[in-house]
Amino acid sequence: MAKRTSLHGLWSSRLAFILAVSGSAVGLGNIWKFPYVAGANGGGAFVLFYLLCVALIGLPIMMAEILIGRRGRRNPVATMRIVGEEEGSRPSWALVGVMGVIAGIIILSFYSVIAGWSLSYVGHAALNRFSGAGAEEVNALFGGLLADWRVLAFWHTAFMILTIFVVARGVERGLERAVRFLMPSLAVLMVALLGYAMINGDFRGGVNFLLEADFSKLTGDAMLAALGQAFFSLSIGMGAIMAYGAYLPEGTSITNTSISVVLADTGMALLAGLAIFPIVFAHGLDPGAGPGLIFQTLPLAFGNMAGGHVFGLLFFILLTFAAWTSSIGLIEPAVAWAVETRGRSRPASAIAIGVVIWLLGFLTILSFNELADFRVLGRTLFENLDHLSSNILLPLGGLFITIFAGWVMAKTSTSDELDIGTGGLFSLWRFLARWVAPVAVLLVFLHATGLLGWFGLAGSAG
Ligand code: TRP
Repeated sequence: MAKRTSLHGLWSSRLAFILAVSGSAVGLGNIWKFPYVAGANGGGAFVLFYLLCVALIGLPIMMAEILIGRRGRRNPVATMRIVGEEEGSRPSWALVGVMGVIAGIIILSFYSVIAGWSLSYVGHAALNRFSGAGAEEVNALFGGLLADWRVLAFWHTAFMILTIFVVARGVERGLERAVRFLMPSLAVLMVALLGYAMINGDFRGGVNFLLEADFSKLTGDAMLAALGQAFFSLSIGMGAIMAYGAYLPEGTSITNTSISVVLADTGMALLAGLAIFPIVFAHGLDPGAGPGLIFQTLPLAFGNMAGGHVFGLLFFILLTFAAWTSSIGLIEPAVAWAVETRGRSRPASAIAIGVVIWLLGFLTILSFNELADFRVLGRTLFENLDHLSSNILLPLGGLFITIFAGWVMAKTSTSDELDIGTGGLFSLWRFLARWVAPVAVLLVFLHATGLLGWFGLAGSAG
């Protein structure tokens, strides 16, 4: 088969690709979301189940996405259609790509609002507002931010402009350089924060909370949240990694790359958890506080440590950068699709899609103030957008992707792309992709809806 070439250029090196994929993976999901979702779901057992999902479902699906992407070399919609037809299946596989484009748009609509919080905290940190602050002041600062939709809209707008700006110029330029410097700096900062938490926080309490598994807390909903968090944090299930894979040169190891990215991403999340919970417990705060968790705890640390002014400023700058490199991945499938199929220019596509996402962001903004009491299915608008995209669309997309790679694609096609021979390692991947990942995703779905109980396979779901 003649190999296709990408329409958007290729990554300049394997390192560039690893940086781009880890740039998309490491973001608010690790530092903002992981701690609060783990906290809200009781800690230890959730974390353990999350790690299982990452290893047994996340890793094989990430490999599947990259290999499909490189084979198709188009936006996820076209790639799924082309590769599907090549493998003698239906063009309707393109719908998986469409679902991914939609998931990316929904995720970025709330992601950008939270990134806006981080941006506004860069301002607070610069003005030294955390200095000497106690839990009450820090709460007031956060509450004040959420209370006024115009303030949230301002920062959300600023962040969307940043995102559109980079995407309009093309993913390769700028991004590579930003991530190369960002990742190591953020890791160093997190390690330093961990050191602070060990000395000044309730480290034992934090570690116990994160690592001591109480399985009675692992309800069906908690399992679904852990599964969703694994997909969200790894950026998989929506074609983002597939879109990046489309720009990957032949001869680059998909397996090694995926393992590096998964390790870096998971390491960052655990690091964030280990740094945050000791501070939570030392100040008698609630680990289940929800989406505001890091914004209500970390300023306490920055406000009371030596050099906290600079440290806090640096932290929120880097967090914003991490969110920025992720937001680019979230919008890329939609932009690549618009460029390739609608024949629009990159800048025009980025702006048009960016405006749609910006507007959608107001649902999240308003759910923290004017519409805070408005519930659909017992959730706020923000919670619904998050739940629908992270816990349903991403795992569902991942399910189709892994079925596609495991069952639709010929064994020779996948072994060709993975290039790890057809021995034990390949067999292991194929077994995970064909059996373990699909069955596990289905079981978690069934368990969370309580259906598993109906079949008498498990106790009632939470
Ligand atoms: N992984 C990102 C984070 O942890 C968020 C995310 C989810 C994402 N899906 C994505 C980023 C797709 C890029 C592409 O913050």
